[in-house]
Amino acid sequence: MRTIAIMNNKGGVGKTVTAINLADILTREHGKRVVLGDCDGQCNLTQFYVPDFDTSEDASLDTLMCGLASCYEEVLLPLTDKLSLIPASDGLYDVDISALDGKEDHTVDMRCLIDIRDNLIEDEAADFFILDCPPGFTASAVSALLAADEVVIPLTIDGFSFRGMAALLRQLASMRKSNWRLKRAAVLITQYRNADVVSQGEQLLRSNGKIDIYKQVIRRTDKVPESTIDGSPIWQYSPGSAAARDYRAWVRELLGEEAAHE
Ligand SMILES: Nc1ncnc2c1ncn2[C@@H]1O[C@H](COP(=O)(O)OP(=O)(O)OP(=O)(O)O)[C@@H](O)[C@H]1O
Ligand SMILES: [Mg+2]
Repeated sequence: MRTIAIMNNKGGVGKTVTAINLADILTREHGKRVVLGDCDGQCNLTQFYVPDFDTSEDASLDTLMCGLASCYEEVLLPLTDKLSLIPASDGLYDVDISALDGKEDHTVDMRCLIDIRDNLIEDEAADFFILDCPPGFTASAVSALLAADEVVIPLTIDGFSFRGMAALLRQLASMRKSNWRLKRAAVLITQYRNADVVSQGEQLLRSNGKIDIYKQVIRRTDKVPESTIDGSPIWQYSPGSAAARDYRAWVRELLGEEAAHE
């Protein structure tokens, strides 16, 4: 099983859209079994799949992180025969406060996503565990980065994103010391458009040499925000759109040899 954290401490760069479309293409085009984990108190991923999810009633990732559920099956929501979701609630913000206040009755299990990963492997329950991280180093984001074999860093090209990414790469370097499983952290350029500023930014990034960057970029198209309103992944909503074709090509790149042998 591959555990992939989708992380950038900058907001609005396409983390959740990437998680949705990666999961959709892996399950429907490549026949993989995917468990998605929503690690963000904004709950965008959860609301996308389960618009009426009741955070006051239903168990979610924060229930597990606070030790109030004993196993992942208690919170797992099956969405299709190949896709399941560990939902989030805004209780993840309380988890952050508990992690900070250090009181003994407020313990937060930072190994939570490591344990879920190991249980999924033991149960042979999934081929991919994909973690949609929030914009920032919250308790759940750190837990996701500790559990990940790979980190995908969606990035839109502008000066602010470059600076945010430098901070993220520093954090990842220190995480590598506690997560020996972390094999690859690579940038996925999102919301790409034909403009000098974007192509120059891309060239600058690719010539840097220190950052691993996927060859495939994801183009910007209005079909993507439309698809999130419709509640459908882009390949279902608009199969011929630039972003649908780009996400499918990127997933083949991510699968590498595995896709070649299908
Ligand atoms: N390829 C694209 N083309 C056009 N719009 C896009 C594309 N990818 C993402 N968007 C839009 O950008 C916005 C942010 O996307 P998304 O919510 O996935 O980012 P995020 O990094 O998860 O944000 P946050 O940090 O708040 O969790 C959304 O409105 C989404 O529809
Ligand atoms: Mg998001």
